[in-house]
Amino acid sequence: LENSVRNSIHQTLGEKKMRPVARTVTALAVASVAAAGVLNATRPGVQEKSVKLTAGPLAQAGSVGSMRSIADQADLKFGTAVNMDVLASNEKYATITSKEFNSVTPENVMKWESVEPSRGNYDWSKADALVEFAKKNNQFVRGHTLVWHSQMPDWLKNGIKDGEFSPPEVRKIMKDHIVTVAKHFKGKIKQWDVANEAFNESGSERYTLWREYLGKNYLADAFRSAHAVDPKAKLFYNDFNIEGMNPKSDAVYALVKKLKTDGVPIDGVGIQSHLATQLPFPPGYAENLKRFAELGLEISLTEVDVRIELPVTSAKIANQKSQYQELFAGCLAVKECDYITLWGFDDGNSWIRDWFGGEGSATPFYANYKPKPVWSVIKNSMMGSGR
Ligand code: XIL
Repeated sequence: LENSVRNSIHQTLGEKKMRPVARTVTALAVASVAAAGVLNATRPGVQEKSVKLTAGPLAQAGSVGSMRSIADQADLKFGTAVNMDVLASNEKYATITSKEFNSVTPENVMKWESVEPSRGNYDWSKADALVEFAKKNNQFVRGHTLVWHSQMPDWLKNGIKDGEFSPPEVRKIMKDHIVTVAKHFKGKIKQWDVANEAFNESGSERYTLWREYLGKNYLADAFRSAHAVDPKAKLFYNDFNIEGMNPKSDAVYALVKKLKTDGVPIDGVGIQSHLATQLPFPPGYAENLKRFAELGLEISLTEVDVRIELPVTSAKIANQKSQYQELFAGCLAVKECDYITLWGFDDGNSWIRDWFGGEGSATPFYANYKPKPVWSVIKNSMMGSGR
């Protein structure tokens, strides 16, 4: 079953070997574009068919016509994953990040290997720089991620594998990390992807080092630990290939339902939404969102992109537009779905090229930072949502 399901739905993510990106970090010299507050742009009617792409420079932060002003109007948190090295060195990237989005997620710099590279020694520099950028630009920060089997530092991964730590010690290491990180960002991060990718495509539990050493309850423990230090932060379980109805989303549904029943502090589900034009749009998407909402959970689309098998053709672009449209419209149709984050907004910095051989063009901006027509598709689905 495992293999047939795996082959019939999306390609498994996150199991490939990470390819380190060698980019020089310069001093944080990001553009400081002050954010204006919520604006009163007139909401065009649902009838409106298309929006012209902004000619020349994009609109000012929060100004009429910018995507973030439209997101504000739709009561939507609209974010992008941010590569801190690029943010620090590329003014165009920084300007679009601040002008077009009201939220940011660290693409890598809050992951375990980044913040706790050796045991008990925390390096907050890049994560703090993002929080600072967001503050300056009046943006939300989505925390990502506290417990995951991937991008763990060597001391931890090898230490657990080699039996250097006893199970109670592994438990303490996990708790110390969560508590320290959640405390450091307390009040600055409104939502956390606490636990990431704990299931296989078949719906079975992914047998990670955490699961192996800590047993079934480690997820509940992770949520409790985060909540204890930052009770106001909203806590999410996050995974991929759970957009539609399938064995994996069934398993996530059962997990979060059980956590709620057991009184574990969980507020929502993060649906990563890494889609692909060679695959059908996830069947049962609306039904799936509905069942999570009915549990009293919030829903966030946390890592949206729609990759294309290269070369790009007009048919593939049409397919991509329709998948972006369905994804956004479906979320916006559900009150509880109020947070959508792109996993990078531009092709030049998207993770797809490095992780999916022969695929690319997954984001709404070309590598030259010009918006593609699909950017208007996203804009139209926000304006036509009736929110
Ligand atoms: C990816 C980043 O985009 C890459 O730069 C990094 O090399 C690997 O991780 N699911 C997640 C994200 O939850 O954290 C992953 O991000 C993409 C898949």
